[in-house]
Amino acid sequence: MRLKRKDILAIEELDRDELEMILSSAQSFKEVSERDIKKVPTLRGRTIINLFYEPSTRTRTAFEIAGKRMSADVINISASVSSVKKGETLKDTAKNLEAMRPDCIVVRHCSAGTAHMLAGLLSCSVINAGDGAHEHPTQALLDIFTIRERLGRVEGLKVLIVGDILHSRVARSNIWGLRNLGAEVTVCGPPTMIPPHIERLGCSVAYHVDDAIADADVIMMLRIQLERQRATLFPSLREYARCWGLSAERLKKAKKDVLIMHPGPVNRGVELSPEVVDGPWSVILEQVTNGVAVRMALFYLLLGDIKED
Ligand code: CP
Repeated sequence: MRLKRKDILAIEELDRDELEMILSSAQSFKEVSERDIKKVPTLRGRTIINLFYEPSTRTRTAFEIAGKRMSADVINISASVSSVKKGETLKDTAKNLEAMRPDCIVVRHCSAGTAHMLAGLLSCSVINAGDGAHEHPTQALLDIFTIRERLGRVEGLKVLIVGDILHSRVARSNIWGLRNLGAEVTVCGPPTMIPPHIERLGCSVAYHVDDAIADADVIMMLRIQLERQRATLFPSLREYARCWGLSAERLKKAKKDVLIMHPGPVNRGVELSPEVVDGPWSVILEQVTNGVAVRMALFYLLLGDIKED
């Protein structure tokens, strides 16, 4: 098995078979990280470049660990310490990196469409590690993997996504992926943070968090993205936490075995109270663990020497 595509740019572009293939491959790779010696030779001789124009802890590290556990050579480039600072364009940076013959470039950028632009420009594989408010495909894959691992299925589940839907690439990727796999998705947040016509993606909209959580099997809380907001979309962080944040008290209205997810980084005390972040409902650190397995699967399915069926 191999993905019949060069790049991973958006969940919107993946069909159900491709999603299933990635998730089942990630299941196999998860075991590698449980071993004493966490290394397989699958990508020996391959070169992966992580090109990050925005800050990252989880995504960049998980891509690096995934590549290294598969024996690839992994190079990390942060725009803040590269020749971008001397005025080099993204296109020139990418072409210069390609001249050193990498097999894959993983890119994160603040502008939507960056990964698509690079994929058209470069002959190596490109993986989107987050492009502006557009998509964060590997985050959605690890989220869906975590849901499936915990609850045994995705089909028929009710997933509630709460927060800054307007600026969230995580929300967009999850809506595409979860809908494709048969989940019911509802988004909820301040009206100023719900994009017009979001229902066209196949989700419904709720404006009262207390009503919406009662029905959910999974609640995915989103980070308030102050860096992407051009205007104040809510009165204060305290007000946001009171109206939209998840506390243990508010969770009394939810199902007992509800899963609480967050892509990170968490603004403790804003989207989630500390007792919810660290409580029994939270699978936030499992999401991070699963992020390595999902990225290993993607490298394998894009770059591995796999015999065609
Ligand atoms: N979830 C996520 O993208 O986290 P980082 O910004 O730390 O990569």
